[in-house]
Amino acid sequence: MSTAAQPHEVVREVLMGRFGQLSVSDSEGVRSLSCSWACHGSSFLLPAAELAGGRLEPGPVPESDYMLGWLIAAAARPDGHVLMGGLGSGAGPIALAWAFPRLRVTVVEIDPLIVALARRHFPLLGHFEAAGRIAVVEQDVVEHVWQAGGADWSLACLDAYRDSSSLYCPSALLQALHGRAAAVWLNILEDAGFDATRHFADVLIDTGWSPACVLPVNEVPRGASRGNVLLGTQAPAAAALRGFQPFGALDHPNARKADARLAGMLARQQPWMRIAAMD
Ligand SMILES: C[S@@+](CC[C@H](N)C(=O)[O-])C[C@H]1O[C@@H](n2cnc3c(N)ncnc32)[C@H](O)[C@@H]1O
Repeated sequence: MSTAAQPHEVVREVLMGRFGQLSVSDSEGVRSLSCSWACHGSSFLLPAAELAGGRLEPGPVPESDYMLGWLIAAAARPDGHVLMGGLGSGAGPIALAWAFPRLRVTVVEIDPLIVALARRHFPLLGHFEAAGRIAVVEQDVVEHVWQAGGADWSLACLDAYRDSSSLYCPSALLQALHGRAAAVWLNILEDAGFDATRHFADVLIDTGWSPACVLPVNEVPRGASRGNVLLGTQAPAAAALRGFQPFGALDHPNARKADARLAGMLARQQPWMRIAAMD
C-alpha cells in the first residue's frame, strides 16, 4: 500500500478509515476517493455544476462507468425513492439526484470518515442533502433495512464494498428488502465470465427475487476480465430510456462521453435468462 502521488496527481486528504487508508486525490481532471487500492467513486471536475449559490467542482458527471447503470435502473421510477448501500465518494447518488429532479435517495454508509470526506471533497453531495434530495445515514446497510420498519423504496442499489473483492450482500439483506423494494440492482465485480453474476443470481432466487436483467458495464474482448456487471430484478424502462441523455444540458465533452457510454451500456443489456442458459 502506498500513498505516493502519481505524476500530475494532487493528494487532497488522507485518513485512516474503517477498512483501510482513505485518500482523495485529483488526477487528469478526475477527483477520486479510494480505500487502499480500491476506488470508491470518481467524478470529472468539469463540467462544474453551475448553481444559484455558486459553482461546484467536481460536477455531476461520474467517471466510474458503472454508476451510469444506476441511472438506467432508476429511469423506471424517476419520482421514486432509491435506497443505496454504500456511499463512497457519493458520485452515484449525485448523478441520480442530478438526472432525476423528483427522485429522493437515501444512502447508507458504514464508515463516518467516508461520509466526511465525501462531503468535503464532493460538494454536490452537501448541496443535494441541504435540498432534501439525498439523505446520508451512517449505519450498516443490513441493520438499516431491518430497523427502517415503515420505509419502502422504488429501487435498492446494492454497492457495499469493503475493498475491491466482493459485494457485501448477505441473504438477510435481500430477504429484508423483499416486499419493501420494487426492484433490486447489484453492482458485481466479475472476472472473465459471469460466475459471480450467477452466484448472486442464485442468492436472489433463494431469497424470493427473480433476476431479470444483466448490464455488462464495459465492452471487453472474449476472455478478458469483464469488470463491473449490474444485475437487476427489473428490465430497464425502454420507453423512458429512449434518447435518454442525463447530462445533455451540460455543454462539455465529459458530459457527452458519459451520455454515449450510458447508451453503450444500455445496448449491452441482456435478459438474465440468456446468461443463465449459457454454458
Ligand atoms: C463502491 S463504494 C459505493 C459507491 C456508491 N454506491 C456510488 O454509487 O457512488 C462502497 C462503499 O460501501 C461502504 N460499505 C461497506 N460495507 C458496508 C456496509 N455493511 N454498510 C454500508 N456501507 C458499507 C464502504 O465503506 C464504501 O464507502
